[in-house]
Amino acid sequence: MTKKQLNIGLVGYGFMGRTHSNAFLQAGRFFDLPFQPVLKAVCARNPERVQAFANNWGYESAETDWRKLIERDDIDLIDIASPNDTHAEIAIAAAQAGKMVMCEKPLGRTAEEARTMVEAVEEAKVPNAVWYNYRRVPAVTMLKQMLDDGRFGRIFHYRAKFLQDWTISQDLPQGGEGLWRLDVSVAGSGVTGDLLAHNIDTAMWLNGPITEVVAMTETFIKERKHNLTGEVQAVGIDDASSFLCRFANGSLAMFEATRYARGHKALYTLEINGEHCSAFWDLHDLHRLQYFDHRDESIVRGWRNVHITDGDQPYMKHWWVPGLQIGYEHTFTHQFADFVTAVGEGKPCPPTFRDGLATDLVCDAVLKSAQTRQWEAVGEA
Ligand SMILES: NC(=O)c1ccc[n+]([C@@H]2O[C@H](COP(=O)([O-])OP(=O)(O)OC[C@H]3O[C@@H](n4cnc5c(N)ncnc54)[C@H](O)[C@@H]3O)[C@@H](O)[C@H]2O)c1
Repeated sequence: MTKKQLNIGLVGYGFMGRTHSNAFLQAGRFFDLPFQPVLKAVCARNPERVQAFANNWGYESAETDWRKLIERDDIDLIDIASPNDTHAEIAIAAAQAGKMVMCEKPLGRTAEEARTMVEAVEEAKVPNAVWYNYRRVPAVTMLKQMLDDGRFGRIFHYRAKFLQDWTISQDLPQGGEGLWRLDVSVAGSGVTGDLLAHNIDTAMWLNGPITEVVAMTETFIKERKHNLTGEVQAVGIDDASSFLCRFANGSLAMFEATRYARGHKALYTLEINGEHCSAFWDLHDLHRLQYFDHRDESIVRGWRNVHITDGDQPYMKHWWVPGLQIGYEHTFTHQFADFVTAVGEGKPCPPTFRDGLATDLVCDAVLKSAQTRQWEAVGEA
């Protein structure tokens, strides 16, 4: 029996447009999905480049205006992989047109913007998700299962960081293609919304809500030439952002993100310390979970380095044979496969827009605390 189609309209063909397109193509080959994903249309503003992208990835058609994409009757799912300032307008219009919506992170540039998006998808009752893909690294998913099983006991500490080094040059312009992350009007914030948002989403998924934060941020390079206007303008983003926080479960945490840690390209690490167990994970070694269990027999007690490739570990039975690894791109395939499966079952697929709002509320509290130099409470999603 042929499966019903799930017709996808993608907005944006940059870095994320490629990871998502790969996921749309691979998911049905490795997972038994209730629908057949179809790459129906891709949308971006440059007609030649968007057509070339469509040809390369096998999209049936190309559009240059996302409004046209949303008007089309043959599109079921709008996938937003364009810069942060486009998320709200596109997501709200898509929801009002009755489309399912998947949106890149951060959901909004502010929590206020994100809340309008949550209201739109919930009012329209359309399936929705935010691409916080690190939840679906098999080692991270397995850590979540181990925490939910209760084997860690009471949790005392959580710490996470995300370090990069690509904006250190004083001569780097801000704004426009490839550099919109440095333009606060487009990005909303700097490393807080771009990098810490990932750390925060994973942390709250693993360890529950964050209740209050105290933060410091810095903008090391104060002025940069704007790529679109050619004018030297003040830099409005945070180049580095660190915060301490408390979780609702009583545990304490430290978070750090920066684009000024020379030598680091994408060093996302997390550690959690409980009464019985600790665990550590590093994106650069993403298949391994470092795990310590104090209940082990004392003479052999020590940190275990678990290589997560076996069929009874999350997602791995869908891939190769035990011992063989997968990578970064598979996290998007996992998220898309989970999303389509959940649509088939009529269930939500976290992280939903409301989960994305919860992360934006923590980001807002972090940025506010850096200004007020006070502890700030995190708002309710
Ligand atoms: N989940 C993750 O790990 C992850 C990683 C990187 C980026 N992101 C997020 O993904 C989004 C895109 O980031 P990126 O790195 O792919 O950016 P990018 O600059 O590589 O690509 C952005 C794309 O959006 C297109 N675009 C811009 N304005 C548009 C408009 N009005 N209509 C249609 N298309 C438009 C551009 O032409 C480009 O193709 C951002 O929200 C970013 O925060 C998430």
